Amino acid sequence: MEEELIVGKVIFRRSNIHGMGGFALKTIRKGSRIIEYVGEKMDKKESLRRCEDGNVYVFEINDEWDIDGSVDWNPARWINQSCSANAETDVIKNRVWIMATRTIRAGEEITYNYNFDLSEYEDYPCNCGAPHCPGFMVAEEHWDEVRRRHPDKAKPKAKKAA
Ligand SMILES: C[S@@+](CC[C@H](N)C(=O)[O-])C[C@H]1O[C@@H](n2cnc3c(N)ncnc32)[C@H](O)[C@@H]1O
Ligand SMILES: [Zn+2]
Repeated sequence: MEEELIVGKVIFRRSNIHGMGGFALKTIRKGSRIIEYVGEKMDKKESLRRCEDGNVYVFEINDEWDIDGSVDWNPARWINQSCSANAETDVIKNRVWIMATRTIRAGEEITYNYNFDLSEYEDYPCNCGAPHCPGFMVAEEHWDEVRRRHPDKAKPKAKKAA
């Protein structure tokens, strides 16, 4: 891929977290749609096959269909994960959107939590740099458990102010 690509509110370029990432071109308001996550529509059987092959770009759109975002016409596939995310994914009328969960300043990297569960996180060490990062890409509800399992990987919890 080229060095930089601008799509709507986002510029895609090298990231300190990993490879390519998406960055806000200008201020993005909390609650607004940032970019659509598009891909190849497929049924659940095909989706399961691709997930079992290690495809991390699959998104569920409803009970019947998923999409595989690992296509070159889906720049949103470059968006990295963070444990201090400023965005999330939302399915609206069977379309997947990356939505801002807080105001994102120009130049800030856009991230969401990939929300991996306890069966898959171990293949995905996290390099987000957040002070409370448990060391792996895993859903927040599992952070305490993952910290317990891998005390060497997590950053120490920040002490509460007295
Ligand atoms: C959907 S891609 C994101 C785009 C990726 N940066 C790239 O250049 O291909 C997902 C992959 O990016 C990497 N990645 C994303 N967020 C990361 C993070 N917080 N720490 C380490 N690797 C990350 C992992 O290899 C993950 O499997
Ligand atoms: Zn992290």
